[in-house]
Amino acid sequence: MLIDSYGRTVDYLRVSVTERCNFRCQYCMPEKPFSWVPKENLLSFEELFEFIKVSIDEGIKKIRITGGEPLLREDLDTFIKMIYDYKNDIDLAMTTNAFLLKGSAKKLYDAGLRRLNVSIDSLKPEIAEAIAKKDVLPNVLAGIEEALRVGFKVKVNMVPMKGMNEGEVLDVLEYCKDRGMVVRFIEYMENVHAEVDIKGMQSPELLSIIGSRYRYEDEGFDGHSPSHYYKLEDGYEFGIIEPHKDDFCTKCNRIRLTAEGNLIPCLYFDEAMSIRDAVRRGDIKEAALVLKEVIRTKPEKNRWSEGDTEQSNRAFYETGG
Ligand code: GTP
Ligand code: 5AD
Ligand code: SF4
Repeated sequence: MLIDSYGRTVDYLRVSVTERCNFRCQYCMPEKPFSWVPKENLLSFEELFEFIKVSIDEGIKKIRITGGEPLLREDLDTFIKMIYDYKNDIDLAMTTNAFLLKGSAKKLYDAGLRRLNVSIDSLKPEIAEAIAKKDVLPNVLAGIEEALRVGFKVKVNMVPMKGMNEGEVLDVLEYCKDRGMVVRFIEYMENVHAEVDIKGMQSPELLSIIGSRYRYEDEGFDGHSPSHYYKLEDGYEFGIIEPHKDDFCTKCNRIRLTAEGNLIPCLYFDEAMSIRDAVRRGDIKEAALVLKEVIRTKPEKNRWSEGDTEQSNRAFYETGG
């Protein structure tokens, strides 16, 4: 078991396989050009897998593949199968923008992946394009339909923003409800990488929009998820991730590995330790020591919730959200 200095059991590892992305979501990426990490710095799937085996042996029970956009890496299904074959009761999930999902959903499912979190910020093609800086909607919707068809359990993330997609909260909720997908509205987290002036919508406003059409009950939090859940009268559940209000750090169970091999103890915390050299040398003992040290240094709270939105230099596309 991996237990941090505040008594929290860490059993959830988020693995980013690339920081590259085929979208430029305005709340995530800068508008001006920037450079990616050189390809030779990225860990190969074999190297990532070496670390994943160590983590599973030490107590990790849930692994989420993230990015950037994970589907930009070729042969992702082979990587998923490596993990699944090592321990088939691991809870394996992936967060994707779904643009390339239609062609890969079946292969991923057959490799052992069962759960997907995808983003839908708008159901209007021009607004979706304004947010992602690309004509994304037809591919995203086709990807989601295919994922549902092959049997995936799909959750949807939406970041509602003033003057952008604010009129679509009910539309997205209903699109998801009709298809049996849980939707989570995420309050925009201010950060230095998003260069435009975004005003995110917060929980009370979202609930008042939903309450104008539906009655709902507060269900509280579900396990270690950062999402606050609510239930409509017909039993449909939706969530709101409220970083401005809730301190889910007290029950945090997660750490993050970047595609370069930096192990990060917390979403908004710059300190990290690299496992890259250890896995490249095949030094499994050293990799396990780094893992334990990172868990030992996991902070009680993230810096962002303490009001330090300007200081963290690490971007969502690098940490995988
Ligand atoms: P499940 O609960 O397994 O569905 O996954 P998840 O909610 O961890 O996954 P997802 O990748 O969909 O993450 C949703 C978003 O929640 C992230 O992109 C962040 O915006 C937010 N989030 C997730 N973890 C944290 C965290 O540790 N701290 C903060 N502040 N926000 C988080
Ligand atoms: N604030 C809130 N959510 C964000 N995401 C990316 N950047 C931000 C931000 N600044 C969300 C995406 C995706 C998830 C992985 O992270 O919408 O659904
Ligand atoms: Fe890409 Fe996700 Fe960032 Fe959008 S939020 S630019 S899809 S990494």
